[in-house]
Amino acid sequence: MNLIVTSDLQDEGMTHNGKLISRSALLGSALGILAAVFLSSAAVADEPALPYAACLTCHGDAGNNPIPGMLAPKLAGLDAQYITKQLHDYQSGRRVHEAMNTLAKTLSESDVNAAAEYFSSQTRTPDEVTDKVLAKQGEAIIKHGYSSNAVPACVNCHNDGMYGAARYPRVAGQKPDYLINQLTHFKSGERHNDFGQMSRVAMRLTDDQIKAVAEYISTLN
Ligand code: HEC
Ligand code: HEC
Repeated sequence: MNLIVTSDLQDEGMTHNGKLISRSALLGSALGILAAVFLSSAAVADEPALPYAACLTCHGDAGNNPIPGMLAPKLAGLDAQYITKQLHDYQSGRRVHEAMNTLAKTLSESDVNAAAEYFSSQTRTPDEVTDKVLAKQGEAIIKHGYSSNAVPACVNCHNDGMYGAARYPRVAGQKPDYLINQLTHFKSGERHNDFGQMSRVAMRLTDDQIKAVAEYISTLN
């Protein structure tokens, strides 16, 4: 788009009755071109613009490849409404994580919406199965629950395949370390921005069941 603007202006100036355009007209065009370049640079599709360029340092390329060991989630493919809610919760302090609380407070409402729109339109890639036996145990809990400790089937709220919808987050293909961390935090009450819905489930899961569901969920496409 910038190139088209530049060549249009040059063509117009240089071919107008074969005369050279004046110095001030040239300067005016140059400033116009600069302004056009500046404004359009935010809209270049393949380069992430602010505010989400900064997010990729921890959440990884296209929000799909979090830095190992950081316990950060994949954002790619999360519902926009869920992303917006979480950013609001970090802003208000209802969800507690020092780095995300500080960062979220620097975002305007339009930054929040831009980030939600950007990450929700990215495609999530799942992880590989590392422990098939554990994944099988997790699959049973996800699909049918676990009656001995009154765990409901996770798909009741997160939908078949754990794809989620709106305020029920997509967890399919999420990083296992992040899943284990969040389920443990819901269980202990450290994460409590869910109106009790998720914590009532997590408090009934044993640590081994948490590992099993995380193993299975992370491989779902
Ligand atoms: C310093 C690293 C870092 C940066 C930079 C960062 N994040 Fe995060 N983000 C995290 C971590 C770690 C978590 C998990 C925090 C927790 O346990 O609550 C997280 C969680 C989130 C969540 C919650 C997702 C879910 O599945 O519940 C959203 C949404 C989010 N970040 C959006 C953003 C956006 C948008 C930006 C850029 C403006 C950003 N993050 C920048 C590290 C980071
Ligand atoms: C009664 C409905 C309900 C059931 C059943 C349920 N969940 Fe959830 N879950 C939620 C809601 C709602 C949230 C999001 C809370 C919020 O707004 O932060 C959530 C959040 C989560 C998260 C955090 C996702 C993220 O990106 O941070 C994980 C992981 C999760 N659920 C896994 C499970 C598993 C595993 C099961 C089954 C053992 C399960 N859920 C059953 C309602 C439910």
